[in-house]
This record gives sequence, structure tokens and C-alpha cells, in this order.
Amino acid sequence: MSATHDDIDWATRLTAMRRSDALQHESLQQVAARLAANLGPDPVVVDAGCGSGGMSAALASVLRHNGGGRLVLVDATEELLEAAQKAASAAGGETVTVTTVNADVGTASSVSRLPSADLVWASGMVHHLPDQQAGVATLADLLAPGGTLALAEGGLNQKTLPWDLGVGRPGLEDRLHAAHNAWFHDLRSAMDGVVDMPYGWTTALARAGLEEPTSFGYLVEHPAPTSDTVREHVVEHLAWMAEILHDYLASDDRDTLAELTDPAGSHYLGARDDLFLLSARSVYTARRPH
Ligand SMILES: C[S@@+](CC[C@H](N)C(=O)[O-])C[C@H]1O[C@@H](n2cnc3c(N)ncnc32)[C@H](O)[C@@H]1O
Repeated sequence: MSATHDDIDWATRLTAMRRSDALQHESLQQVAARLAANLGPDPVVVDAGCGSGGMSAALASVLRHNGGGRLVLVDATEELLEAAQKAASAAGGETVTVTTVNADVGTASSVSRLPSADLVWASGMVHHLPDQQAGVATLADLLAPGGTLALAEGGLNQKTLPWDLGVGRPGLEDRLHAAHNAWFHDLRSAMDGVVDMPYGWTTALARAGLEEPTSFGYLVEHPAPTSDTVREHVVEHLAWMAEILHDYLASDDRDTLAELTDPAGSHYLGARDDLFLLSARSVYTARRPH
């Protein structure tokens, strides 16, 4: 089990996360280049909650291209940290120093040993902390004067399926998104020490003492007709949704999901060529004052 606050066994997600990293490769490369554009020579960059290392590798490759630097990968799940280190070291080559820290970002003292950073990236991690504002403050405290904190949070839910699949009620994917929202609310409510954050991420960044909060979005798009990697991603994603959203879905939708993810069934998604992947993610940034 992982040492996170969310009761998710992240280590079991490794294969799926690596596939997702591959599907986001080009987009992450562009985001990394954009964030690194203002870094000085030999910068220190932290990837907090790095997961399997898709963005770690993108950051490493941009640092390498820019002449080098130091990349510190942080995650509470050891198995993911190892995968991220491999990916980042391969992308960074000899000019980028990659180190790892197994730490809980939700406990300020556990990240106090990190070096002060010119850029801190945290994607899809802060919303897993019981006190998100405290997590943003902890990440902001890692910054050197003038350093940037970039949070990738929210955006648009991914779409992958035709509206009418020829099995079950049309519009399954929208109902999955609604069920996921309810599941996520319950997941947060069950965390020890949960604190509401009833405002958006630019406000959270400003409340952490950072300047010039702003945001941009990026697309991840793999149009139909699709590739094997997208097909595998969609089948795995729906199987995971069927598992975690079991209590949140109507029984006919549960039956539909079982049919769609059954390789022996006539409605198996893995045999379709009309799947696709379209999602948009938001990145919120702000700087520590000099
Ligand atoms: C949704 S994944 C995001 C992974 C990666 N950043 C990405 O965008 O693909 C969440 C990651 O945050 C890590 N995580 C969750 N809670 C954490 C905590 N309290 N401290 C450090 N890492 C945490 C998990 O182990 C997992 O790798």
C-alpha cells in the first residue's frame, strides 16, 4: 500500500500510469519547455507527486537541452518513484542530476529536506491531500526567491467513447464522470483532517504568498481512428472505473461496463476502431517574490 492520505493503492496503477505518460508525451514536452523557458543556468526543479514520471522525463529532457540542472522527484509511493527515476535519468542523460525523495507532501516536515527550487511542478497530487491549501503552502515554501510553483489540477474530463455504443443506455461516459465526481467527494470526506478549500487554484497560490497567479491549459488529443495504446488505455480505464465506482453506478451501467471490458464478448471495446482520447488539463502558476 502507498503512504498517501487517499486510500488508493497507487503502486497497482503503475502500468496504467506509464501508458498514460506515453499518451501525454508530446503535450508534456511542450508544457515542460514552456515552464522551463525562464529558468536560469543549472536550475533546481522539483516534481512533487511525480507518479510514474511522464513529466519528470519531459522536464529532464528540457533541462538536458538547456545545458543541465538538478531534478528532484518526490512521491509517497516507492514503486512509482523508482519508475520515475528510470524515466527521468534516461531522458536527462549525464547533464541532468536526478535524485528521489520518498516523502508525504501532506506533512510539511517530511519535505523540509528538499533543496530550494527554481521550479516546483505538482500534477494531480494536491487534490489528494486532506488540507490542499496547506499543501500549496508547503510547495510554495520549497521555492527559491523568484521561483515558480506550477500546479496541474482539473480541466475537462477525458472523453474516449462514442455517445451510442450499441450496448446499454447512450451517454455512459457522462454518467461515469458524474459518478466519479461523487466518488471523489466521498474519498476526500473520508480523509483524516480534511479541510475544505472553497475557492480556485489561483486564489490558493495567492494565499500561499505567491505573486502573479495565472493559468493556461493544454490538450491531450488522439483522434479516431485510434491506436492500440489508446484502446488499451480506454479498456483499462473503464475496468478501473467499474471497480471504484461500483456503488455509484446504476446496475444497467455496471452490466454495460462488464460487457465493454470482456475480451470474449461481442461488445469488447478493445476490438473497436472508433475510440479516441480527448482531454484538457489546467496548469496554475505563480512566483515567489524576490
Ligand atoms: C494522480 S497521480 C499523479 C501522478 C503524476 N504527477 C501525473 O500527473 O501523472 C498522484 C500521485 O501523487 C502521489 N501522492 C498522493 N498523495 C501524496 C502525498 N501525500 N505525498 C506525496 N505524493 C503523493 C501518488 O503516489 C501518485 O503518484
